Amino acid sequence: MGSKRQFRIWRGDETGGDLKDYTVEVNEGEVVLDIIHRLQATEAPDLACRWNCKAGKCGSCSMEINGKPRLGCMTRMSTFEESETVTVTPLRTFPVIRDLVTDVSFNYEKARETPAFAPPADVAPGDYRMQQVDVERSQEFRKCIECFLCQNVCHVIRDHEENKPAFSGPRFFIRAAELDMHPLDTRTDRKEYAQAEMGLGYCNITKCCTEVCPEHIKITDNGIIPMKERAVDRRYDPLVRLGSKIFRR
Ligand code: SF4
Ligand code: F3S
Ligand code: FES
Repeated sequence: MGSKRQFRIWRGDETGGDLKDYTVEVNEGEVVLDIIHRLQATEAPDLACRWNCKAGKCGSCSMEINGKPRLGCMTRMSTFEESETVTVTPLRTFPVIRDLVTDVSFNYEKARETPAFAPPADVAPGDYRMQQVDVERSQEFRKCIECFLCQNVCHVIRDHEENKPAFSGPRFFIRAAELDMHPLDTRTDRKEYAQAEMGLGYCNITKCCTEVCPEHIKITDNGIIPMKERAVDRRYDPLVRLGSKIFRR
């Protein structure tokens, strides 16, 4: 037997909008995305929301629920008190298209800017056998579903629109870290590149990105901090720097 619960959902578009109140039936086991679907099926058929898998794997249903960046399909209604009003708003860091749908193309631009995996030219297909240990080293980073919750929460761009051109953001720092761990990705020095071109230096390790990652990737501890340490080593230790030039992996 369901109960009636209070919701406030941001409705609007790029010209502006407002929170609107709804009273919606909630049943046991439901998630926030179920409630949005119920609203679409009843009193708000034009409520815009992006979703796809309803299984926490496509990264589409990113939204802010009571001010916290979350996946709508993975946020159980039992997280909240029955008396609590649940407020759902679009990701704040990206421009609104309509209602809960934002324009996340910033992230695709940053993805395009990141140099692609490039093995040495003299390694022919089939020549190299990847070791299991190398596969496992970057496994954690490959779990990323590109929900961009980490990008949304990072204060470097959330509070400073002007930083966007110079800052790729946590999702792309772990992409760089992942490629850095690949034994055949030898054409780009990922640490130097992250420092020089991706704005790694803007990150002051607040770890908000790690806190919101639905895949529980230790973005800061396992990705960003080791990249920063190695970048610093290379920049300020002349021997490390020289060695890295002579013995390039
Ligand atoms: Fe989402 Fe985590 Fe990937 Fe960031 S690192 S885009 S929070 S899955
Ligand atoms: Fe931003 Fe994460 Fe660094 S939230 S400041 S990228 S630790
Ligand atoms: Fe795919 Fe939520 S709908 S992650």
